[in-house]
Amino acid sequence: HERKRKEGVNLLELAGSYYRERLKMPEGEGARRYLAARGLSPEVQQAFAIGYAPAGWEALKGHLAERGISEAVQIEYGLLVHREESGRTYDRFRDRVMFPIRDIRGRTIAFGGRVLGDAKPKYLNSPETPVFHKGRELYGLFEARQANSRLERLVIVEGYMDVVALAQFGIRNAVATLGTSTSEEHLGRLFRMVGEVVFCFDGDQAGRQAAARALQAVLPQMIDGRQARFMFLPEGEDPDSLVRREGSGAFADRITCASPLSEFLFDHAAEGRDLATIESRERFASQVLSAIGKLPEGVLKSLLLTELSRRTGVAQSRFEALVAPGDVPEA
Ligand code: CTP
Ligand code: MN
Ligand code: MN
Ligand code: MN
Ligand code: MN
Repeated sequence: HERKRKEGVNLLELAGSYYRERLKMPEGEGARRYLAARGLSPEVQQAFAIGYAPAGWEALKGHLAERGISEAVQIEYGLLVHREESGRTYDRFRDRVMFPIRDIRGRTIAFGGRVLGDAKPKYLNSPETPVFHKGRELYGLFEARQANSRLERLVIVEGYMDVVALAQFGIRNAVATLGTSTSEEHLGRLFRMVGEVVFCFDGDQAGRQAAARALQAVLPQMIDGRQARFMFLPEGEDPDSLVRREGSGAFADRITCASPLSEFLFDHAAEGRDLATIESRERFASQVLSAIGKLPEGVLKSLLLTELSRRTGVAQSRFEALVAPGDVPEA
């Protein structure tokens, strides 16, 4: 298993340097122009080891074959696609800007590739492989720890470009989930490294839904002493577009002003409810109570029950009788 893993990581490193080389070659000109148009400095491109997968069907395949790497391994690690019907194989990533996804030790474990134009899919990611599990990995975590080994806070954004743009603007603690929603596993890993996470999804319907799902995922992780906060961007903006428009100072201020979990929890439950009728207050209270029930036992849980009681005028003991008992956190 370990030998195989080494073989895979070696293959992915080889692919990463191949993509970086191609970006410098004449065939990489379109990609270089694209990256310049997106405002990415040469320094940040280098820090994130950005490359270019050329347009051919067998470019990487040929390069790796010359180095004695079997097609089977290339397929297993997601670089080569095997067509069942024809029996043919071809490069998964073609004519895309390539973002290597690195594990915490800096080893390349997967790639994300973006088209240079408006073709679909906009992003293509490596499939699940022996070394890549989407629900666990976060883009930019290695780079964030490189920039600061004593991180206290991480900002969770949606996309590759968000992480890279923020880093270019001096905000070097952003990480992205990879086209999946933030999982409890992601959050468990992050909270082992930092005391605070700030969610910062796009200012659109999908981003707001992602925030609501992130709230549910983070609740079981809220051991006393940990902090989670939520940032909401103006409609139509994502961190990349906003930091370029407003600059890093304004963006950093937005991080500082992000809503604490408690505020988002109550605001979100109150959304679209007038709270003037008993029935709407019942739905509000039930939603809050079900969220509180996901928290581990602790001070935060007690304080939220007190606040719910204050907001509804119902005795706290009544809510305590209704709420689910949480896990008792380990020391
Ligand atoms: N994503 C994906 N596959 C897609 C679209 C999106 O995996 N077809 C993931 C990517 O990780 C992407 C993130 O979801 O970065 C956020 O999507 P979106 O906001 O649509 O893209 P941006 O990151 O804003 O991309 P860009 O700025 O390059 O247009
Ligand atoms: Mn595994
Ligand atoms: Mn989006
Ligand atoms: Mn974007
Ligand atoms: Mn976006």
